[in-house]
Amino acid sequence: MKIIELDETDSTNEYIKRMNFSGEVTVIARRQTAGRGTKGRSFVSGEGGLYLSVLRIFEKFDPRDAFRIMVNACTAVCKTIQSFGVTPEIRWANDVLVGGKKICGTLIENSFSGNGLRSLTGIGLNVTNRLPPELKDIAVNLSEVSPIKVTVREVGQKLIKNLSNEYTIEEYKSYIGFFGKKITLITSSGSRSATALDVAADGRLKVLEENGEVSLISAAEVSLKS
Ligand code: BTN
Repeated sequence: MKIIELDETDSTNEYIKRMNFSGEVTVIARRQTAGRGTKGRSFVSGEGGLYLSVLRIFEKFDPRDAFRIMVNACTAVCKTIQSFGVTPEIRWANDVLVGGKKICGTLIENSFSGNGLRSLTGIGLNVTNRLPPELKDIAVNLSEVSPIKVTVREVGQKLIKNLSNEYTIEEYKSYIGFFGKKITLITSSGSRSATALDVAADGRLKVLEENGEVSLISAAEVSLKS
């Protein structure tokens, strides 16, 4: 796949959308001036982090399989982190944590047309970037936790290689540490406790509510505190 390396852009996802590429491409930027997170949030993107977006083009794609893209992205990130001697954990649906702190977030933007799909997977992974003081308690970078010296370039190369693999949902689930545990679901109308049970094939989280009912919730509806 074609790889484009940039010193700076607003957001690698936005860059790919603007360029309207006709073929698959990976774009990496050393820094982003307007990095974007999920749910309209911004993503701090200073030098030393890995900011990468992959455009995949499928002539035929069943929208019901969309969660597979998240499975591949998060599992590839976890395998990459592991190869630097660090144990990652997935916080459903799209974050990767180390020691309870966020090390990586993914932003997937799919555009379906006819039977086809243009799928953008944006990944932001903290490697050697300085984290602002307000994020110190909730975020971590790979160089702080790895016993091996890490460079953005090396982490990027491993991640690109891993992203070309296909992973199963079982592999994705093997990185989730909270099954059987109480979690807090945060919705627009407040938060509630539930016990995490499983992740369904469509990506919804299966939980046991406090009233004894089992429900399936989508990442679009809730954030999660574990
Ligand atoms: C999140 O944690 O909410 C998702 C963060 C995704 C950040 C990556 S960095 C590369 C790509 N470009 C962006 O603007 N966002 C994604």
